[in-house]
Amino acid sequence: MKFIIGCDHGGFDLKQALMPCLKELGYEFEDVGCYTTDSVDYPDIAIAIAKRIASGEFERGIVICGTGIGVSIAANKVKGIRCSLCGDILSAKLTREHNNANLLALGGRIIGVETAKAIAQTWLTTEFAGGRHERRVNKITQYETEEETNG
Ligand code: RB5
Repeated sequence: MKFIIGCDHGGFDLKQALMPCLKELGYEFEDVGCYTTDSVDYPDIAIAIAKRIASGEFERGIVICGTGIGVSIAANKVKGIRCSLCGDILSAKLTREHNNANLLALGGRIIGVETAKAIAQTWLTTEFAGGRHERRVNKITQYETEEETNG
């Protein structure tokens, strides 16, 4: 699975540190920036990435800002996106198993590289558990559809 990765300036250092580790683990990804520490607006990158996942171009992605909060709020406005901000390995595992999260948000100013690497590795390798969790995720999808239809 090739995934998409991006960040704002607050997530730049963590993205730069994380990418070689992920490459070494054999992952393929497209880095959509940002490419410097120049200040950019996190909604721009988060929404652009979310749209490319929602369209089906990518199955999953990783998005990083200073806290991980801004990018997760923005990405979750895009229909079909289940973006989870994770700061620990168990959350990374459970958000894949229970929520079928398709986007992982990380806080570049909050967690260290080793933690981020373990979170990303866990999140990328854990499968959705389905079953009762599928029913619950379907309720989110149904709500999105109803909201679009009924306002
Ligand atoms: C940028 O300074 C910062 O606000 C951003 O990276 C992120 O933490 C927003 O939630």
